[in-house]
Amino acid sequence: MKSSPWWKEATIYQIYPRSFFDSNGDGEGDLQGITSKLQYVQELGVDAIWLSPFYTSPNKDGGYDVADPRDVDPRFGNLEDAKKLIEVAHSLGLKVLVDVVPNHFSDQHVWFQQALKAERGSAERARFHFYDAKEDGTPPNNWISLFGGPSWTQVEDGQYYLHLFDSSQPDLNWENPEVASDYEVTLRFWLDLGVDGFRIDVAHGLVKENLLTNHPDPQGISDALRLDVSMDPEIRYALLPTVPYFDRQGVHEIYRKWRKLFDSYKDREIMAVAEAWVHPPVNATRYVRSDELHQVFNFDLLDAPFKADFLYGVVTRSIELMDSVGALPTWALSNHDSPRVASRIGEVQARALALFVMALPGSCYVFAGQELGLPDGEIPDSSRQDPIYFRTKGAQKGRDGARVPLPWNGETAPFGFTSGKPWLPLTDKWKELTVEKQSADPKSTLNLYRSALKLREDHLTTQGSITWLESPEHGAKSSSLLAFRRGNVSIYMNLSDLPVEVEITGKLLIMSAGTVDGRDGKMTIPAVSTIWVHH
Ligand code: GLC
Ligand code: CA
Repeated sequence: MKSSPWWKEATIYQIYPRSFFDSNGDGEGDLQGITSKLQYVQELGVDAIWLSPFYTSPNKDGGYDVADPRDVDPRFGNLEDAKKLIEVAHSLGLKVLVDVVPNHFSDQHVWFQQALKAERGSAERARFHFYDAKEDGTPPNNWISLFGGPSWTQVEDGQYYLHLFDSSQPDLNWENPEVASDYEVTLRFWLDLGVDGFRIDVAHGLVKENLLTNHPDPQGISDALRLDVSMDPEIRYALLPTVPYFDRQGVHEIYRKWRKLFDSYKDREIMAVAEAWVHPPVNATRYVRSDELHQVFNFDLLDAPFKADFLYGVVTRSIELMDSVGALPTWALSNHDSPRVASRIGEVQARALALFVMALPGSCYVFAGQELGLPDGEIPDSSRQDPIYFRTKGAQKGRDGARVPLPWNGETAPFGFTSGKPWLPLTDKWKELTVEKQSADPKSTLNLYRSALKLREDHLTTQGSITWLESPEHGAKSSSLLAFRRGNVSIYMNLSDLPVEVEITGKLLIMSAGTVDGRDGKMTIPAVSTIWVHH
């Protein structure tokens, strides 16, 4: 059954426009390309798409550096193409979410260009965070950019501006009412064009505190915020709440106002999901209080090891926390900022985990290509584009691996993605992973996703919460078996390298690998696999 409102237990497919499908042979995906493939998306069985940014942008940070939030970048098409995309999506029963980036603009936005020309203390500069240098000429404080290097850049007259990310992404000053009202215009612009909601980039970052004070451990907080830097969890968890630019109480006031705006579209079910990396996890629940946003990303599975106790902890905690504010959790195994799940935990493991996660209550986010079991792309350093790679002088490779274009058909790269030269190279090794090959193979990852999403809707959504059957705290079968019941379906995930026999009767709905032997009230679940059994 479809949930109501539509977003409550939706499956939402994230499209990175530059990498989806190229309609004009310039090597980059575009809006017309997406529109031409929406049928494919609908047949996958998802409820909605979320489009990463396609706005006017110099593209220093994959379009998350927005020069005009109310227009389309020519590389992706134009506003007519956006309208058409929304129309076609709706005609196929798909909702459309667009990404908004309220924390910063591109330095090419007209406001920033005006600020550069204006004087210190001017209204133009007050839209951003411009401050004088300290007496010794150094930046106003010692914060470090999330992309490496200082988070301040000096302009000609000696003032510095703040940028939590690349120097081409000046942070907006949300204390300034002009910023807030301009953003409302942007939200209305897209809603009036027909979108069904928003993914809010860096939703936890809009309000900064102690802007003119040094942090006692700037490198520490910078490392603590990075998933790829290993750190003693105790130290990390002590540092995170001290980050002066994330998860400040003031952000919630902004989302209360946005919620009123969304709700003013009375005949529509508008939704917004926050990208909020916060700690402790309970803080995430604040973003989805009933007068704020509808969903908040749960990033725990993006770097979770394939281990029963860890996964059990994430699932139980996420469900319980969200329940405390009457919300449902969200689940994501991959996105454009993190290594693809098949590369991170293994192909077979990724199939098992996907099937496990799709049965859980809440919304499921699927990053385009995940349904093909795509690994990260192999990218020579000379082709890298991510500012992280450049700002860290190559010390960190950055996120391009997850952003390689999709393989559609044919026997050699770029597999129909473009008739030109793809903006990031695809490898010939992906020959068996194309949409064409996988559509024809009943055992492919693509067909696993298609079947699972259909079964999810038939048997699982709207079925309420779960009851654990096997976990580190329930049952006693094995330390590498997780199982729960939801509605009339039991879900078993065998994480071990050996098959495991369990007592279950019922009809096998789907399995992620191998063949399942069932007789005498018992089933043997193959190594590293998940099954759904209907009672
Ligand atoms: C978010 C986006 C990421 C971007 C950053 C800065 O984390 O997901 O891709 O680089 O914001 O806008
Ligand atoms: Ca193109």
